Amino acid sequence: MNDAYQGPTITSELGRLPIEAAADRNRLSRGTAGEVLDMIDGAPVAELLREHGSPLFVFSETTLRRKLRHFREAFTSRYKSMSFAWSFKTNRLDAICKIMKDEGWAAEVVSDFEYQKARRLGYEGSQIVYNGPYKSRASLKTALEEGALIQIDSWDELAVVEDLVEELDDTFDVGLRVWLTTGHAPVWSKFGFSMINGEAQQAARRIIRNPRFRLHTIHCHVGTYVLDPETYGVATQILLGMRKNLSDDTGHLVPCLNLGGGFPSNSLLHGMIGPAEVVIPPIEDYADAIATELNALPKRDRPLLRLESGRFLVDEAGYLITTIVAIKGGPRPDAPAETLSSIVVKEQMLLSDTARLSYVLDAGINLLFTANWFAIQPYPGRRVETLPVPTRLLGCLCMEIDVIRDHVDLPRLQTGDHLTFHPVGAYNFDQSMQFIYLRPAVVLIGTDRKVHQIRRKETLDDIESAETLPAHLSG
Ligand SMILES: Cc1ncc(COP(=O)(O)O)c(C=O)c1O
Repeated sequence: MNDAYQGPTITSELGRLPIEAAADRNRLSRGTAGEVLDMIDGAPVAELLREHGSPLFVFSETTLRRKLRHFREAFTSRYKSMSFAWSFKTNRLDAICKIMKDEGWAAEVVSDFEYQKARRLGYEGSQIVYNGPYKSRASLKTALEEGALIQIDSWDELAVVEDLVEELDDTFDVGLRVWLTTGHAPVWSKFGFSMINGEAQQAARRIIRNPRFRLHTIHCHVGTYVLDPETYGVATQILLGMRKNLSDDTGHLVPCLNLGGGFPSNSLLHGMIGPAEVVIPPIEDYADAIATELNALPKRDRPLLRLESGRFLVDEAGYLITTIVAIKGGPRPDAPAETLSSIVVKEQMLLSDTARLSYVLDAGINLLFTANWFAIQPYPGRRVETLPVPTRLLGCLCMEIDVIRDHVDLPRLQTGDHLTFHPVGAYNFDQSMQFIYLRPAVVLIGTDRKVHQIRRKETLDDIESAETLPAHLSG
């Protein structure tokens, strides 16, 4: 027998470079190869750009319908009495809102412009929930006349609505927006009546006492991208407590609770460690938290539960395809990719920001406003066989703060390469701005895989048609 010590045999067991092997063993890593996105629902990215120009917003009807059905199923399988509304401000493109309507979702609007848009899209007044901190008197009157549910946000608004119902000489269902604390930070206290100082209860009693009103809904929206499902369990408990107190005091059992939106999509905030599918709780956990509270009530006392989701439903359905228009910093642009040794990479990381490898894109925060908070993932349009290097993605605006990603690992790309950002379907189109560039085209890839242009690229005429030169400046 040979007792001599035998050292372990060290091999590159995966047959790959050590850096790649290490990354592959890391539970949170996706490996170093990096994902490529060259097709969206069967449509080649390069062809989409040839046809519609770059940058380009792309929406997937298949993904959107899948998310809607997933959300609906998660809640209706746990609680029977449900109503679903679509938060228009999350994405108000006609085609997107029509899909929501087609799937049976009511409209949740927050301004008189959105109200008109919903009506034009064929929503009846009775299919509209009207929220928001400022609703003009004229729009409140129209909403009452057309049977929309106004969710009253302040004492001033309550006074206007009280005044209007006298004029209109009828009785109306209304809702009341409240804010509360659940332990989730930050607390959204800008909207509605406070439950903490009792004004929400006071406003509710004033509405119930008025024979022209029926208090139909108590509504709260605790925030957006809420990562703790239990927040909703606590909010439900608090609203049920308020409903019970009101019922005990006045005999009126409010028929509907509206818990707003706020359910997260598969996106990460800057600084969060992913992958998103691991970090973001599934929608079923949120449905459980709410349904557990509601199902604890005797059947006859259970309210209608309304939800008005946005981000969860549409974010993953949206992509923004961009093109690299310039490369700055890093190794010389004409250096062959193989020269990007680890020493060069280290040098780049140690050098100042301006020397870092940066790609200038033909889109910036003018189109990706949510990039201020979210680390939106860029996917190259082709596979590049170099190791990823720390890269900065700069937008095309003349603003130093227009940086879409300050640090993202990408393989070495060339001017003219495409980067597709995903998910970007929530809020980015609606919050896009015409600061130095006009908005690009938007296409929808239908469930039939056909590409439909749903918004054309804007032109100078679109902007100028709203302007007038005074006589002394024209000519
Ligand atoms: C009143 C109200 N309801 C619903 C939503 C939709 O929220 P989310 O996109 O987080 O689902 C919002 C957005 O903040 C809102 O203010």
